[in-house]
Amino acid sequence: MNYNDVIAARHSVRRFQDKEVARDLIDAMILQAQTAPSSKNTKSSAFLVVDDPDTIVALSEMRTSGSTFMKGAKAAIVVMGDTTKTDLYEVNSAISATILQLSAVNLGLGSCWVQVAGRPRSKDGRVPGLAEDYVRELLGIPEHLSVLCVLALGYEAAQD
Ligand SMILES: Cc1cc2nc3c(=O)[nH]c(=O)nc-3n(C[C@H](O)[C@H](O)[C@H](O)COP(=O)(O)O)c2cc1C
Repeated sequence: MNYNDVIAARHSVRRFQDKEVARDLIDAMILQAQTAPSSKNTKSSAFLVVDDPDTIVALSEMRTSGSTFMKGAKAAIVVMGDTTKTDLYEVNSAISATILQLSAVNLGLGSCWVQVAGRPRSKDGRVPGLAEDYVRELLGIPEHLSVLCVLALGYEAAQD
């Protein structure tokens, strides 16, 4: 796809076909994201690929709303920032996530950003705690990596 087509086609995809996403494609996306600009070239972003279906379902339960659609995703990329490299790790991570989303479009994939940083597990407090603590414990993410978002990935399914 050319640049204009990629920009025009990008939209959030929350319904996915039952079709696996080849690991090669995800690796290609991450290679592109690693070229992202970063403050003082600190390259603080880090990525974790999740393709185990049970773990994707568990990830979808990080929040009571806004993340539940993710149970239908075929893969997910957790976008993190190394807090020891720069104070602007979150900005760097957001740029990386955006490049991942554009790269997905270019490869024929759909994605949706699920916010983790700063989000409670439930708005009404019925499920206590923070989405970030839940994701960190689920995936064993070390303390120095801040979790910005999870990108749900897959081939877009037709809407109802
Ligand atoms: C910082 C950020 C946080 C977002 N968080 C969520 C989220 O938690 N859940 C969700 O379903 N979509 C989330 N989105 C996707 C937005 O809802 C979506 O990008 C916006 O509605 C515009 O739609 P479009 O992406 O189709 O153009 C987020 C997007 C961004 C950039």
